[in-house]
Amino acid sequence: MTTLTVTINGRAYGPRDVRDDLTMNDFLREYLGMTGTKVGCGAAQCLSCTVIIDDPNGTSYTRPTCIVPAASFDGKSIRTVEGHAKNGELSVLQKAFIEHFSFQCGYCTAGFLNEAQVLLERLAKAPVPRATLETTIAEALDGHLCRCTGYVKYHEAVRAVILADAARYLA
Ligand code: FES
Ligand code: FES
Repeated sequence: MTTLTVTINGRAYGPRDVRDDLTMNDFLREYLGMTGTKVGCGAAQCLSCTVIIDDPNGTSYTRPTCIVPAASFDGKSIRTVEGHAKNGELSVLQKAFIEHFSFQCGYCTAGFLNEAQVLLERLAKAPVPRATLETTIAEALDGHLCRCTGYVKYHEAVRAVILADAARYLA
């Protein structure tokens, strides 16, 4: 057993004893009822289960949760799909995903959303030239698998959000 304390979407959970073999995905879904984080492959191959980890140094990155022990998140601050909307209003990215019909079954959506959010925050700190934007988006979303093949629509939605606020995201 490990004693787990983790901050999720700004709220502290724990300390709570968890089995060492409990995955973070099961902790979120089965213990906390936060079912927005999906399980696709269950083998760290599709990234549908990724969450955002916020480092104390101000950087953020994504990690899968399906085969990762919950105990390894002890002391960390993470964000899940449940944390994107504020006061009942969807985030700009969430609205763009809807407007661009980016998802169909939605199984991969939380992963794409978290990855795109990290990209936006990175670009806000380090804008890139317009000429490299397509590559930047493609590289950021690389590795996220969509069985419904919505890749182009996800890419379009992220591009639209960036171009709508070009002064913020582009050099
Ligand atoms: S479900 Fe975790 S990477 Fe596929
Ligand atoms: S929308 Fe169905 S897997 Fe991506």
